[in-house]
Amino acid sequence: MCGIIGYIGTKQALPILLEGLRRLEYRGYDSAGVALVAPDPLGGEASGSKIFTERAAGKVSELENKFIDNNLPGLIGIGHTRWATHGAPKEENAHPHGDCENNIAVVHNGIIENYQELKNELAARGHKFRSETDTEVIAHLLEDEPKELSLEKKLMNILPRLVGTYGLAVIDKNDSKKIVVARLGSPLVIGIRGSEFFIASDPSAFISQTREVLYLDDGEVAALSPQGIEIIEKGISKNKQSELLEWSAEKIEKQGYPHFMLKEINEQPKVIEDTIRGRLEEKDGLAHLGGLKEAEEKLRKIEKIIIVGCGSALYSGKIGEYIIEEYAGIPVECEYASEFRYRKPVLDDSTAVLAVSQSGETADTLAAIREAKRKGVLTLGMVNAVGSTIARETDAGIYNHAGPEIGVASTKAFISQVAAFALITLFLGRQRQMSAVTGVRIAEELKTLPEKISQIFSQKEQIESIAEKYAKFSNFLYLGRKYNAPIALEGALKLKEISYIHAEGYPAGEMKHGPIALLDKNFPVVAIAPKDSVYEKMKSAIEEAKARQAPVLALTTEGNNEMENLADDIIYIPKTLEMLTPILSIIPLQLFAYYIAVSKGYDPDRPRNLAKSVTVE
Ligand code: AGP
Repeated sequence: MCGIIGYIGTKQALPILLEGLRRLEYRGYDSAGVALVAPDPLGGEASGSKIFTERAAGKVSELENKFIDNNLPGLIGIGHTRWATHGAPKEENAHPHGDCENNIAVVHNGIIENYQELKNELAARGHKFRSETDTEVIAHLLEDEPKELSLEKKLMNILPRLVGTYGLAVIDKNDSKKIVVARLGSPLVIGIRGSEFFIASDPSAFISQTREVLYLDDGEVAALSPQGIEIIEKGISKNKQSELLEWSAEKIEKQGYPHFMLKEINEQPKVIEDTIRGRLEEKDGLAHLGGLKEAEEKLRKIEKIIIVGCGSALYSGKIGEYIIEEYAGIPVECEYASEFRYRKPVLDDSTAVLAVSQSGETADTLAAIREAKRKGVLTLGMVNAVGSTIARETDAGIYNHAGPEIGVASTKAFISQVAAFALITLFLGRQRQMSAVTGVRIAEELKTLPEKISQIFSQKEQIESIAEKYAKFSNFLYLGRKYNAPIALEGALKLKEISYIHAEGYPAGEMKHGPIALLDKNFPVVAIAPKDSVYEKMKSAIEEAKARQAPVLALTTEGNNEMENLADDIIYIPKTLEMLTPILSIIPLQLFAYYIAVSKGYDPDRPRNLAKSVTVE
């Protein structure tokens, strides 16, 4: 996720900015940059100030290397680590971004959804753009404001034009003794040390400098200058109380959560919002996926899709297989990427191969895509890391916008993938036989999911105590049917990879073909049994397991009271469309695995033997 740092005070700003950027590295990023405003050394007193900007793709150390010989002067500056959402991770797209004359520099977290429309309008007015980012439009909008206005006034004039979310900071050579910040939907915090001020997307960036903080709220603008801090809301100045931070830097990086995995599980309501943001046209039940636009006509003609992936990405693909077949009417196969690349798959120009990958760097998935390209078929990517290899090597694709996933066990990326498959299904289905009514129903239900995920969190304490009860077992059998058969696989994987307990995921119908021989009082079953089209079959599987004395933990739909007589323990999930239940049913299983791992004293963020991205075969 992008990171912001800024400083205005009596010290050289550059070292403070670079330290802040280093402290923000944990958020995940792919480029970085700084901009300072200072008297122009070549222009003498009369010339006023100048904006000095340096940026670099890659790590903060790449940026620091640019200052080995030339130190940037100045007591006022802003910095940024970028997690690419629009435009590849390269120097031209790194923040800060400037206006045509480089009189202004801006850093921004969030997404400006209407940036293209603003960019077209500004270009028509003669503005020249240097990047592919949405952020750059902010600098050019400010440039068109009357020069004599204060920077905060200019910013307040243009903010109503922005649709989307922002946490941003701006400096201006024509109002050179201040930093102005604004917040809407993306956090911004001010640090205070006497007459020195810091700004950041989270306080870990400046916690070594001060613990006195003042959090901005949505809709607030703040002007920081030697005269102090002015907070403005709807054009009116207001007072806000600062507070003293108790946290350590490490704790702040996890925003108070003990592990990144738990933080990312809790981010999931927002991740669904971010995945679907700006992509749904509810009134006609359509999905607008810019990344598939250039392949739109080819996609209209494809008659088969092969989904490839590894691990959790594969399991989301298995759900995608069911959804696309049922609602878009296209035959789909979901393949282990590591198998696909060595098989002799039958491919022709009516086939599309879709790679799912959070990192966009998984070797087996990349190799599968390259094999498909060698055979000349259309390749698509569903990737979280913008600009990653798989994103760049596929013909078209969709970004998840789930933000960087730090925990090795995939959680928020997985549900974002399932939601993205729902978007792809709308896109393909509405090109074909899917009715507007069905499309509208899916689009409307997708928008309810963030709240429904939050409802599941209200059972956290109960899930934790169930986890402690089951932590003693050495084996588990996870069972599900249809859309939840892949959730049985994903739930078992979560438990395996962070608690090192043996767990098998199976389609419930397979139990009587072998696995049932395993069951006894020491071999619990986790049954994913929402009230859906296969619920009665799941009930039978639970009864068969109970007949073998296996303890049963069941997941079922809120209000389904008959489960009380069937299972030993129950976790309820809200009702939703059958095709979307996986997004809800996986949440309790993520928490179940997390609490068991923690109860056994393991670190869920760094499970043994595992890497976050398997870039080797
Ligand atoms: C999931 O919890 C695992 N960490 C692992 O299976 C992962 O999903 C797999 O390695 C694929 O990674 P990718 O999505 O980055 O390609």
